[in-house]
Amino acid sequence: MSRFASGFLNGSPAALILGCCVVAACGADGAAGTAGDIQVTEFNAPVDQPAGHYGYGSDASDAEIAGWDIDIRPDGLGLPPGGGTVEDGEFLYEDQCAICHGSFGEGVGRYPVIAGGQGTLTESRPEKTVGSFWPYASTLWDYIHRAMPFAEPESLSDDEVYAISAYVLYLNDLVDYDFELNQGNLASIEMPNKDGFFLDDRPDVKNELCMNNCKDPAAIEITSEPVSLEVSEVSEVSEVPDVQVQSAAVVGKSPGESIYQQACALCHASGVGDAPILGERDAWAGRIAAGRDLMIASSLDGKGVMPPKGGQLQLSDEDIIAAVDYMIAQLAN
Ligand code: HEC
Ligand code: HEC
Repeated sequence: MSRFASGFLNGSPAALILGCCVVAACGADGAAGTAGDIQVTEFNAPVDQPAGHYGYGSDASDAEIAGWDIDIRPDGLGLPPGGGTVEDGEFLYEDQCAICHGSFGEGVGRYPVIAGGQGTLTESRPEKTVGSFWPYASTLWDYIHRAMPFAEPESLSDDEVYAISAYVLYLNDLVDYDFELNQGNLASIEMPNKDGFFLDDRPDVKNELCMNNCKDPAAIEITSEPVSLEVSEVSEVSEVPDVQVQSAAVVGKSPGESIYQQACALCHASGVGDAPILGERDAWAGRIAAGRDLMIASSLDGKGVMPPKGGQLQLSDEDIIAAVDYMIAQLAN
């Protein structure tokens, strides 16, 4: 993320070209008009220009594209010719990086630690550094080139980036002091955590997309409930069992409760958009005083940020009333 942010801060090249690309993308299949003379057709697209042009901007030049196309792949594709030694890198690093990241990569103040931490990833407070966490050395070259030093991204020459990358690898005990990093050998450096990343295999991610004969969305129920943990609750150990009881109760739920979970919990469990939170009496006191009928009417017709029926228009009025009654019942004990 940060690397893009830095690119923008620094970089008119990046920002400019992105602008061009956005325009080009919008124009992908439209007809177009000349600049300053835009006619709107029924498709809301200007006419009389080759497809793909709205009459704004110009094609990105090769130089502009080259300024933006600076990513380095794990297999080394994208690396420019050149190289640099650990020794050269030491001086450059001390000069341009140590003030924030520390002479040994230990991090000054709250600036990131970039060396050490190997073997800590499974601990409760893992230290994620270049050496302990990053799977590819190519990221190091890419990141330093793109984003560092923090205040002057893209100010280093290619050879300087090689040298500093070599030094950061050295600080992480991954290369020796006499090592030279270059276009030819960077991709062959094996990072300790290279096998620590894998495709998310949890069932909701791995599920196949249903393309036909799918379940009726209205019949799909959310079977677990987002649990809202107030900060005060978390800090009090004695409150934690209550939270578990709350989600265990899901098992034998009433119709009102299941509607609530399906259509209302999204906002009312967590307070999204200032929705009054389930069971929080203060948030509900005024509404209770105004009466159940008004609460039902608000739920059916919508109120403030809340859409009619919580946005689930396929639900019957009875469903909504059952959910409201369930919510009211949560204020009873
Ligand atoms: C003014 C302070 C400053 C200087 C100087 C600086 N950095 Fe950084 N560096 C940062 C900050 C802040 C971040 C975190 C940026 C973010 O996450 O958005 C960072 C992030 C990094 C990271 C990624 C850390 C991680 O694990 O995510 C590396 C590697 C890095 N810097 C290397 C360098 C190198 C090499 C230099 C010298 C060429 C340098 N930095 C100079 C402040 C600095
Ligand atoms: C998109 C978020 C959202 C969803 C989904 C949602 N609500 Fe709300 N709900 C709100 C907000 C925000 C308020 C407070 C509105 C206000 O006072 O301006 C609210 C207020 C209420 C109130 C109090 C009305 C009043 O008159 O003060 C009831 C009752 C209520 N919701 C029931 C439901 C029910 C039942 C569902 C599910 C069918 C539901 N809500 C779904 C956001 C939501």
